[in-house]
Amino acid sequence: MCGIVGFTGKQQAVPVLLQGLTTLEYRGYDSAGVTLQTNNGIQTIKSLGRIAVLEEKIGTMGEIDAVCGIGHTRWATHGAPSDRNSHPHESMDGRIALVHNGIIENYLELRNQLIAEGVVFKSDTDSEVVAHLFAKHYKGDNVQAMMDTCRELRGSYALAVITSDRLGEMICTRHDNPLIVGVGEGENMIASDIPAIMSITKNFMVVGDGEIVRVRPEGVEVFSAEGQPVEKEIQTVTWDIQGAQKGGYDHFMIKEIMEQPKAVKDTVSSRITDEDMPYLMDEGVGEEVFKNIRNVHIVACGSAYYAGMAGKVAFERLARIPVLGNVASEFRYSDPIIDKDDLCIVISQSGETADTLAALREAKARGAKTVAIVNVLASSAAREADHVIYTWAGPEIAVATTKAYSAQLSVMYLLALTAAKARGTLSDEEIRTYCRALRDLPAQIEQTLATAEAMKDLAQLYHERNDSFFIGRGIDYMTCQEASLKLKEIAYVHSEAYAGGELKHGPISLIEDGTPVIALDCDPALHEKQISNIKSVKARGAKVILITNGDFEIDETMCDHVVKIPACPYFMAASLAILPVQFYAYYVGVFRGCDIDKPRNLAKSVTVE
Ligand code: G6P
Repeated sequence: MCGIVGFTGKQQAVPVLLQGLTTLEYRGYDSAGVTLQTNNGIQTIKSLGRIAVLEEKIGTMGEIDAVCGIGHTRWATHGAPSDRNSHPHESMDGRIALVHNGIIENYLELRNQLIAEGVVFKSDTDSEVVAHLFAKHYKGDNVQAMMDTCRELRGSYALAVITSDRLGEMICTRHDNPLIVGVGEGENMIASDIPAIMSITKNFMVVGDGEIVRVRPEGVEVFSAEGQPVEKEIQTVTWDIQGAQKGGYDHFMIKEIMEQPKAVKDTVSSRITDEDMPYLMDEGVGEEVFKNIRNVHIVACGSAYYAGMAGKVAFERLARIPVLGNVASEFRYSDPIIDKDDLCIVISQSGETADTLAALREAKARGAKTVAIVNVLASSAAREADHVIYTWAGPEIAVATTKAYSAQLSVMYLLALTAAKARGTLSDEEIRTYCRALRDLPAQIEQTLATAEAMKDLAQLYHERNDSFFIGRGIDYMTCQEASLKLKEIAYVHSEAYAGGELKHGPISLIEDGTPVIALDCDPALHEKQISNIKSVKARGAKVILITNGDFEIDETMCDHVVKIPACPYFMAASLAILPVQFYAYYVGVFRGCDIDKPRNLAKSVTVE
């Protein structure tokens, strides 16, 4: 995930671009750059680090007279964060400069083709191929060149290009990545998100998928992917700049909850083949990795650990490999029984959690193969593990993870299916069916976002209660643990997660009149057992919120409230059932007046033991 911005008008472009980039820093902040159109051609300035570093660098260069330019703030995917991998990227002759947000999936093929044609690359990025391709197609008509370029691209992108010969003009397009045009008076902007345009205007248009936009100071022209003119509606922002970075949401947490369909889609889509098979070979994780192993160890902290435990269910049920789960802080000091015949999977959003890193090193030192599931590119865990599988959730700002957790779950499903193929525990047809379900999962997550309002009402009803229970069996028990953690973290409510069958061994004595119990029931094979557990708490006065994908008769001996979610293969239910409980924790926190994005005593990345 990156942020792009562009400006054309009469005022100096540098301050407008820097201001815009600063508002987009939440989209990535490992490097930044701008290209300006000057009377002596285009001039690119870029640097590793935050926008402030770029600003300082520009400050040392004297006045740059330019009224049109593009800018970029990067969250590295292809190619480590560095000056040379920063955007904008220029064509070899320096006539074209481009910024890109997204991933070009066929970049290697295009790169080799361009190299064979004599192009010399200056960076390791996937984006640079687009600058050279555009230069190849550009014969003075920038709309035509953009159409010809896009025809050759696979993947997702928002692109903005300036050329040295068409002063004051930007040419842009998008596919599966956001892009808006800010429509001002004699000056216009393009950007990944609304906050970036708000220094010049509150009026904007949303660029449709595949549309091409030519932006000049005096006007904006929009074309279809085939080059036909398109009429666009101009909208007006109704909120102020403070709330803007959150895209109009009150908190980053709720924004990130809403981003989960995209996080999961970006993480899985390029990892399922056209034949509906899991594909992790780009990361070197093929069937070989699972062929002769004795055990899988899953090691992580916090929510990442619970994502791992949901993955354990998938692994054991699909691939029939014993999985041992351990929180990293325990694993590292437990003299673990792990050696060259074992595979250790570590999971970490930041890739920098001290205990997780120490556990990874311990597993490696004992000869185990290691795979890290990580969200932050080039982080320590990513560098040190034998294999790294990135979750493409984008930067996560709220301390309590939501979208990275969901992306981690989806990688665990891909790993479990790869293992099942390697071990022959599922037929190819069964694997294909599950892969198709995994491809449909983002759409089902999107559907499940509709539980927000119901969960908000329930949060309002129960937010004053200081104790809560989450109960479930099998995969639901794993979701309960993450749900319970969320409620503690965000809303400071004491809560317990219990396996449904374990309640009667003690904790049921804590159920009082009115105690909220959130019961998950998403595995049809365990439905009857779970309903008996639910009835036993209901009979003791609990207020039961039932979250289910089942299609059965519900009566008042079972629950007080019911929230329906879509049905999917049982091991993937964790990805859907998590949404209503995230909403519940979020809204209970809001009603209790908590500091949602920065809960007390917590940190996003825990780099101490
Ligand atoms: C902190 C965060 C949690 C996170 C855990 C592990 O405690 O507050 O949300 O799950 O660290 O972080 P990691 O970056 O390793 O996933």
